[in-house]
Amino acid sequence: MTGTLVDAGPAPGEPPPPDDAPRDVVGRVMPVFPEPPPLTSHGPARIIAMCNQKGGVGKTTTTINLGACLAEHGRRVLLVDFDPQGAASVGIGVNPHDLDVTIYNVLMERGVRVEDALIESGIDGLDVLPANIDLSAAEVQLVGEVARESVLSRALRPVVDDYDVILIDCQPSLGLLTVNALTAAHGVLIPLECEFFALRGVALLVETIEKVRDRLNPALEIDGILPTMYDSRTLHSREVVARVHEAFGDTLLHSVIGRTVKFPDATVAAEPITAYAPGHPGASAYRQLARELVARGHAA
Ligand SMILES: Nc1ncnc2c1ncn2[C@@H]1O[C@H](COP(=O)(O)OP(=O)(O)O)[C@@H](O)[C@H]1O
Ligand SMILES: [Mg+2]
Repeated sequence: MTGTLVDAGPAPGEPPPPDDAPRDVVGRVMPVFPEPPPLTSHGPARIIAMCNQKGGVGKTTTTINLGACLAEHGRRVLLVDFDPQGAASVGIGVNPHDLDVTIYNVLMERGVRVEDALIESGIDGLDVLPANIDLSAAEVQLVGEVARESVLSRALRPVVDDYDVILIDCQPSLGLLTVNALTAAHGVLIPLECEFFALRGVALLVETIEKVRDRLNPALEIDGILPTMYDSRTLHSREVVARVHEAFGDTLLHSVIGRTVKFPDATVAAEPITAYAPGHPGASAYRQLARELVARGHAA
């Protein structure tokens, strides 16, 4: 289901698209992303790491809202909070700071199973593997482990068949935890804030992804670059996205997330925007992202 649908330029011999065809923000014809068909069975999950070593670019917001949108389509979704700040846990209504068992214990303690740490969110089909500040110790402790880069991959293995999609919310660094996420993942989604210096770190991120692909996880793909905090009124936002398109071609997704205060508001309410403001354009944007990823073959 990849390729043709997404890069839908006219096939040889076909007429070019009409001038009034809907276009994305860089002027590509906007494909129609159909409603994902219902699933008749579940699993094994495709694992997607939400990754950018810059903080505040929308990784956690994307993890929560993409997860909620996929769950709306009956997908079983696991959010893996892989940031010691615990923002993905909090954002979905779980207070991770009082928990005795989190992903940290699953990673570091023999005998603690991943099932022991899973929590159902208030949203149908959406579970969370929570994290709290304990996870910050793992970065150091993992250094001495055998196969230290694949600890997360092994930890998730028992539940991979129970979900259709597993989303890993990475911390803002390219350290060992992030390398673990990239080793566990099938694909990487890169949220990119539409801001001038946003592109600076991307080359280093792509280099890291390529290293992990070469050495640890040959099947790892970049699923897409997702512009976030896009403001259509500014030339600046449009220029940033145009630069991304120049540099990365169709790795740039068609879906774009606009800048709106509804996202921080939803964070305070500890809900995805699809629950907090279901009719808001921000909710539609994440629903479209979910449909685009399914259409590209990156999610069930
Ligand atoms: N599209 C958006 N428009 C406005 N604010 C946003 C948007 N996406 C995220 N935010 C806000 O920006 C801050 C950082 O987002 P977050 O998802 O936590 O980034 P990261 O996980 O990359 O650090 C949060 O307060 C969040 O609510
Ligand atoms: Mg975050």
